[in-house]
Amino acid sequence: MHVDVVFTPDETGAAPTGIVIDVIRATSTICQALASGYERVFCAAEVEEARALREALGEGVLGGERNAVAITGFDLGNSPREYLEPAGTTLILSTTNGTRAVVTAARRCERVFIASLLNLEAVVEAARAAGDDVVVVCAGVQGTMNLDDTFVAGRIAELLAGERTDAAEAAARLVGTWSGAEEAFRASLSGRNLLQNAPHLEEDIAFCARESALEVVPRLVGIRDSAAEISL
Ligand code: MLT
Repeated sequence: MHVDVVFTPDETGAAPTGIVIDVIRATSTICQALASGYERVFCAAEVEEARALREALGEGVLGGERNAVAITGFDLGNSPREYLEPAGTTLILSTTNGTRAVVTAARRCERVFIASLLNLEAVVEAARAAGDDVVVVCAGVQGTMNLDDTFVAGRIAELLAGERTDAAEAAARLVGTWSGAEEAFRASLSGRNLLQNAPHLEEDIAFCARESALEVVPRLVGIRDSAAEISL
């Protein structure tokens, strides 16, 4: 098995199995929402697409953020701690980088898994069971690489133990430079953006830094309009 990592969704990189990470916080939120009882999560790149999808479905909880702040008129923000109890069966999520990365991977890969640190072991096991080459797609921050997603990509590369590209090797080697996930997340651009724009949500960082606390493996089940539908 070859294991590749792309540090932003803009980089070319495709494999049968795509694993998408936006650990601070979109993919942590998706994992938590499905673990809590939501039946499906639609990932919409744009705010207007999310609103239009709710209109078309006639139902759905609207969640998400822009620059870490909840979107005006939406029901919930993008803190995974807001999703500990389901507020409905369908979540329609739109975030600055993460939902866009999911939509990009959905167009490129035969199967797509959603990863965070919360479901690390479960998602690695699913990728191993699929048996194909893997590309880990980091959401990054507006076209640039970030340390938080790279840390999780490195943990995935370590655990998958396949033949690594240089990018996957770099991510795996970076993991050892931190005392742990929380330190990496706090140092990252995503972590700093969160602390700067929504300091009251600082606890989200420690929440997202818990490794393998959930056993869910969210996966792509289809595309509806331009949104990627994710379910267990
Ligand atoms: C994103 O999609 O950029 C993130 O999830 C931002 C965040 O909510 O912290």
